[in-house]
Amino acid sequence: MSKKIKGIILAGGTATRLFPLTATTSKQLLPVYDKQMIFYPLNILIKAGIKEILIIVAPDHSGQFLNLLGSIFEKYNIHLEFKVQKVPKGLADAFIVGENFIDNDNVAMVLGDNIFEDSTRLAQDIKSFKKGGMIFAKEVSDPERFGIVEFDKNGKAISIEEKPEKPKSRYCVTGIYVYDSDVVKIAKRLSPSGRGEIEVTDINKKYLKMKKLAVNKIKGAWLDAGTFDSLLEAGAVVKEKKIYKDFDPIINKAIKEFNEELKALAKKRLI
Ligand code: DAU
Repeated sequence: MSKKIKGIILAGGTATRLFPLTATTSKQLLPVYDKQMIFYPLNILIKAGIKEILIIVAPDHSGQFLNLLGSIFEKYNIHLEFKVQKVPKGLADAFIVGENFIDNDNVAMVLGDNIFEDSTRLAQDIKSFKKGGMIFAKEVSDPERFGIVEFDKNGKAISIEEKPEKPKSRYCVTGIYVYDSDVVKIAKRLSPSGRGEIEVTDINKKYLKMKKLAVNKIKGAWLDAGTFDSLLEAGAVVKEKKIYKDFDPIINKAIKEFNEELKALAKKRLI
């Protein structure tokens, strides 16, 4: 029998590129078309049938995450946990902050600012995960900004580099990472990179070296909504490609109930 898979959404960081918007709220709570950004990564994990999800947040806006998500999925048997990452030490830190949560299970991490068009296909891939590591690559026009995977002529991944000056391909590593529980000890052994962070790219390099890394190429749109322009573009793409209609029924129902609760409360206050 394959192991249980848990979910992590990394929704911390300082989001300085979105100041002053992120002076009053977290980036991952900003709206992307008709929903807060965090619902997009949540959708992938919930579509994958994951029932235990850890949300890692920065200290300043942790109460706002709790207000929005604290009890919204309770009756759907989806258990959310929250943990504060005091200092943004790097993406790989999620597996150290999440050590007790992961325990001996497999884990799928989605970055809190990543929006994928093909959530159904990605959820199927996550569901099918057994062991080792699995990441998702997408062709981009600005490969210097990302983790980059090089493939050989048979389509096998042969190298991964973080933000290379001279990229060996245009295939970028997107923000979904699936690993077995070995990821915790791998993350704990990492040293900070030149930018002072422990890099998820170094975790991927380790799995690649052990010949345990699957790299799936994705087709649909992918965006990280970390700048004014990409945030605006994300909203436009969500509308144009009708991504807002492609949510798991659990999310739709939970948001509807939450809205009704808010309306009822507002009414009471008016009386
Ligand atoms: O978006 C995909 C890219 O994400 C990958 O191609 C790169 O390999 C990977 O390193 C990462 O690149 P960035 O440098 O652009 O990641 P960024 O610092 O923007 O962090 C991504 C999200 O994770 C962002 O929403 C903030 C959050 N975060 C980041 C760090 C470093 C945390 O919650 N905690 C952290 O410690």
